[in-house]
Amino acid sequence: MSQYKTKVLGTGMCVPERVVTNVDLEKTIETNDQWIYERTGIRERRICKTIGGEFPSDLAYSATLQALEAANMQPNDIDMILFASVTPDMKLPNTASILQTKLGIENQCACLDIAAACSGFVYGTNMAHAMIQTGMAKTVLVVGSEMLSQEIDWTDRRICILFGDGCGVALYGRSEDNSAILATCLGADGTGKEFFQQPVGGAVTPLTKEHILNREHFMQMKGTEMFKVATRTLAKNAKKVIADAGMSLSDVDWVIPHQANYRIIETTAKLLGIPMDQVVVNIDKYGNTSAATVPMAFHEAVADGRIKRGQIVLFDAFGAGLTHGATLLRY
Ligand code: UT7
Repeated sequence: MSQYKTKVLGTGMCVPERVVTNVDLEKTIETNDQWIYERTGIRERRICKTIGGEFPSDLAYSATLQALEAANMQPNDIDMILFASVTPDMKLPNTASILQTKLGIENQCACLDIAAACSGFVYGTNMAHAMIQTGMAKTVLVVGSEMLSQEIDWTDRRICILFGDGCGVALYGRSEDNSAILATCLGADGTGKEFFQQPVGGAVTPLTKEHILNREHFMQMKGTEMFKVATRTLAKNAKKVIADAGMSLSDVDWVIPHQANYRIIETTAKLLGIPMDQVVVNIDKYGNTSAATVPMAFHEAVADGRIKRGQIVLFDAFGAGLTHGATLLRY
């Protein structure tokens, strides 16, 4: 079997223009900027327009053009699209194939959507690595793009303050230099399904008028339960990939954690003994954008020069499912 190394060729991100601050939310629900900031680290989030085309595939289109430019490649160089999202453009067809058309790709590249919630981008990254490593694909686009604003009850202060819309992408390909994905891990614990779910609208409970009138069709989360499992799992997976790569925590230059809550990120960093100035945090600007948080934070830190070629970077994510995963790479 072929054994190619996998490299990050380019990154990109795109967020909607509309900013909704905590102070804006004070006008519609019983909350305040201080509570939200102290409990979550969030100051504001971006929200998509529902009229005029600002849907997950549109955000992904703009972000992908940036990644292609960074990689000096053309859309037809992509031979697989993995689109991680819990808020796809529509049920059918998958959003990866919608993006393929928007990009003008004519090579009939494989298109797959990944439903792994907040861990979706890390799932996509590790799957892209497996495809590239074995020679089954040469250049894989991994997208995390979400429009969570559509799935949130904006009258429920326990949940609506947390989430936002956005997209981040990474383009992966064969490495001929020092850059490489060094270790991966993926997992899930299905027994925690009721901690974060959206049961209405699927095959088991099709959406009815009553569900809408009773506001039962939105995402439901048990925040405290999620919080506890998140910190434990993030720290465990980080240690696993570092050990699997034959490295130690002091070798890691940058941690890119899923941005669900600043306190989760801080607790995980403490458990790992990694100083916060090596952890990329942007939750203050975007809130929790599910599958998009890791690639957006990664892109920002690459674009502003914090992350440099040759440095060791750790992706670490956790979400509904309860899915989880980590990637250790030399950028
Ligand atoms: O992406 C992966 C999934 N997401 C996560 O893993 C998120 C994990 N969980 C969390 O981030 C936190 O649990 C939350 C931010 C959701 C909640 O923080 P908390 O410190 O666990 O607060 P709490 O739910 O225990 O609520 C404390 C109090 C309650 O009042 P009482 O019962 O103590 O009187 C809430 O009613 O704060 C109240 N509260 C609010 N007050 C102002 C809840 N939401 C709000 C709000 N504004 N938005």
